[in-house]
Amino acid sequence: PRKIIIDTDPGQDDAVAILLALASPEEIDVLGITAVAGNVPLSLTARNARIICELAGRPEVKVFAGCDRPMIRPLVTAEHVHGQTGLNGPVLPDPTMPLQDQHGVDFIIETLRREDAGTVTLCVLGPLTNIAMAFKMAPDIVEKVEEIVLMGGAYFEVGNITPAAEFNIYVDPDAAAVVFGAGVPLVVMPLDVTHKALVTRARIEAFRSLGNASGIAVAEMTDFFERFDKEKYGSDGAPLHDPCVTAYLLQPDLFQGRQINVEIETGSELTLGMTVADWWGVSGRKDNALFVGNLDADGFFALLTERIARLP
Ligand code: BDR
Ligand code: CA
Repeated sequence: PRKIIIDTDPGQDDAVAILLALASPEEIDVLGITAVAGNVPLSLTARNARIICELAGRPEVKVFAGCDRPMIRPLVTAEHVHGQTGLNGPVLPDPTMPLQDQHGVDFIIETLRREDAGTVTLCVLGPLTNIAMAFKMAPDIVEKVEEIVLMGGAYFEVGNITPAAEFNIYVDPDAAAVVFGAGVPLVVMPLDVTHKALVTRARIEAFRSLGNASGIAVAEMTDFFERFDKEKYGSDGAPLHDPCVTAYLLQPDLFQGRQINVEIETGSELTLGMTVADWWGVSGRKDNALFVGNLDADGFFALLTERIARLP
């Protein structure tokens, strides 16, 4: 199986992404989960990550708390999307599994130093703070990363937190600039693709009718989570942003994108956190990311439903 670290700010869609990974042990070995401040503050994201591991029947998974705020700017959160706990919707028990003592950034550094070069993939579902801090503190680990697959940014779909920026990149644009400039192979799931991964009524009911605790929780999470996008965009259900990252690891042929140059705006207040994506190759700058634009939504939901069915 492919060794991964999941870096996350759960978040209902983060939760579904984590469940998909934990439901797929033959393909994916989750070395650890590092929480970061994002959708809600760190104390809640670190807690939510553990709630999800226990829901999946995997209390032995190591969960670490990472950075509690962006590198330079004050934290911006998204309770208006995810609710006060970040995981509003289902009623799930408090976690009993421990939070690891080690800092999430130290865990990332130690793991990449220990494992063979090119064998660990970083799956990033929130602001890029933990990853950028690890790269700053231990530049030797950068070349050891196999690949970074992340949810963030937007091109034709522009922004969801400001007119120009997507939330994960906007919250810590300075960290995003470090990661996009690091020279590591990058796969980016921007809003352009995640807005096509819509949980319609029928798809929610398919999760619920699995009848297992995980399927019911996924249905209840998306019931809550779809409110925001339905009102805002008039879309048919909620976009499952972050599960695009873990689905890509399992079935990359569900996705289509283009290898292009992407730079992060860190100066302008108006367009802060914008992913300036050179889709037409007009800049002459070197490609640094596979920017994904499309997916087979039916195939994606078939995979997700089949895997969630395997969980408790
Ligand atoms: C991203 O922001 C968060 O609200 C979601 O969890 C996702 O990672 C979408 O812009
Ligand atoms: Ca997220």
